[in-house]
Amino acid sequence: MYGNDFGPKITADGDAGDDPALLDGFQRTLDAGDRIEPRDAMPAGYRKTLIRQIAQHAHSEIIGMQPEGNWITRAPSLRRKAILMAKVQDEAGHGLYLYAAAETLGASREELLNLLHDGKQKYSSIFNYPTLTWADMGAIGWLVDGAAIVNQVPICRCSYGPYARAMVRICKEESFHQRQGFEILDTLSRGNPSQHAMAQDAIDRWWWPSLMMFGPPDDQSPNSAQSMAWGIKRFSNDELRQRFVDMIVPQAKILRLALPDPDLRWNAETEHWDFGPIDWAEFFGVLKGDGPCNEQRIAHRRGAHTDGAWVREAALAYADKHVARTAAVA
Ligand SMILES: [Fe+2]
Ligand SMILES: [Fe+2]
Repeated sequence: MYGNDFGPKITADGDAGDDPALLDGFQRTLDAGDRIEPRDAMPAGYRKTLIRQIAQHAHSEIIGMQPEGNWITRAPSLRRKAILMAKVQDEAGHGLYLYAAAETLGASREELLNLLHDGKQKYSSIFNYPTLTWADMGAIGWLVDGAAIVNQVPICRCSYGPYARAMVRICKEESFHQRQGFEILDTLSRGNPSQHAMAQDAIDRWWWPSLMMFGPPDDQSPNSAQSMAWGIKRFSNDELRQRFVDMIVPQAKILRLALPDPDLRWNAETEHWDFGPIDWAEFFGVLKGDGPCNEQRIAHRRGAHTDGAWVREAALAYADKHVARTAAVA
């Protein structure tokens, strides 16, 4: 969902289907490896898929602020607090770039937020797990932001211009997030035995949900083929998941932390790390709403939206005043 699409099966037909010449132009742009821009003709399915994927991505960014926001007041030092605040603020910014990208496709931010609040659009299931200790800030940065990077780097080359461009800056910031997570875990891992145990416990809880972030296996991912044909998706879920595992295993060794998978071993033939089976029943359960924090996350989001209504009203009143003044001068 962080750069992935979850939803009903999509179809390739669309609004641009009314005009074969326009659709032809769309296909030629894709074939040439060029970008589709907001005013270009595009199939309705392409538009719909992108709105849903970008919105779900934006929702994930802002819901993702909650598990970490939970630790800002409890960060172990002023330095850690300042870094965590900056990181959580970055995620708000990512949400903003992405809602703005979705707006170029004709969906308003208000409409998309309503879909999130009504449970009609999803966000990454990873954020429905609780953050129990400070080490979870390290595990989230290292694993969750790490998985987000692997998912999102290919989107910098996605066929839709505004989404691709938003992703370039987001990926730069995500690399900082991953490093800060790594550094938290490195410090804990080299600390006293209980600090090391705290870091290990966080990895034990976040490892499998991080692997689930890439979405279901390729044979259970009905929309992937169409998304690839449209140049929205560049690599399959399983390819990206493998890339993530291959990236993380050597880093875990440097951290002196174990990944909780007895089946994890180097495969000299494929030159990749093999890993054990993923509990997809857990993934679909959390996605459906049965995760440990689903209700809490949405309730908090709705509350923040209601509490922030005056800010939106004030901003609109100010904008109206500005328009009226400009008109009066003209
Ligand atoms: Fe982000
Ligand atoms: Fe991040």
